[in-house]
Amino acid sequence: MNFSSQVTVLSHPLAAHYLSLLRDKNTSSVVFHHAFHQLGTLLLIEAFKELPLEHFPVETPLMPCDGLQLDSAYTYILAPILRAGLGLGSIAADLLPNATVYHIGMYRDEQTLSPVWYYNKTPDRLTDQKPVKVFILDPMLATGHSAEAAVELFLDKGVLEKDIIFVSVLSAPEGIELLTSAFKELRVITSQIDATLNEKGYILPGLGDAGDRLFNTVK
Ligand code: URA
Repeated sequence: MNFSSQVTVLSHPLAAHYLSLLRDKNTSSVVFHHAFHQLGTLLLIEAFKELPLEHFPVETPLMPCDGLQLDSAYTYILAPILRAGLGLGSIAADLLPNATVYHIGMYRDEQTLSPVWYYNKTPDRLTDQKPVKVFILDPMLATGHSAEAAVELFLDKGVLEKDIIFVSVLSAPEGIELLTSAFKELRVITSQIDATLNEKGYILPGLGDAGDRLFNTVK
């Protein structure tokens, strides 16, 4: 399937290595955490690749020179989707410590597979003071329904599609298709697009329930 220039699939041997550790059901919680951290870092570095910079003067111990810092004309927003998004949220906040973090909470109705909101403390408008760059974080882009609802949340607050990047560890074709056809200027960064979804909306072959594996609540 051709998913266009909107989608970046991380092509890196370390991404393949860590993703395979995440997939393996026999991977211990300790190793899972480490692999998630490494893969999440690779993904987020890719997601932050085009952050805007501004010049500022720096004095080294030897002489003045030109310095670069993240452009202060923008507000940088991280939006981890609870619960599994917390794993990417903490890595992203380490890389971008002056970002604003808005947690957004949705669970999936088991029957309809539709998202049900339970947490949202985002302000009514987000772009009145400064333009924003938004990174929506969810390790699993499965049906795409909660991803779509999260993108709509930010569009409703004045954010432009081109200023939103959706970051997932693993994606299903169904979720990619839904997001890229609904939002033509949105970008998606993922480490792999798997084969399909099962009847419960889990990615196949996938890695199971990302939240349960991250937080060691697998039954
Ligand atoms: N959420 C998960 O945690 N895993 C899937 O496979 C799909 C959605």
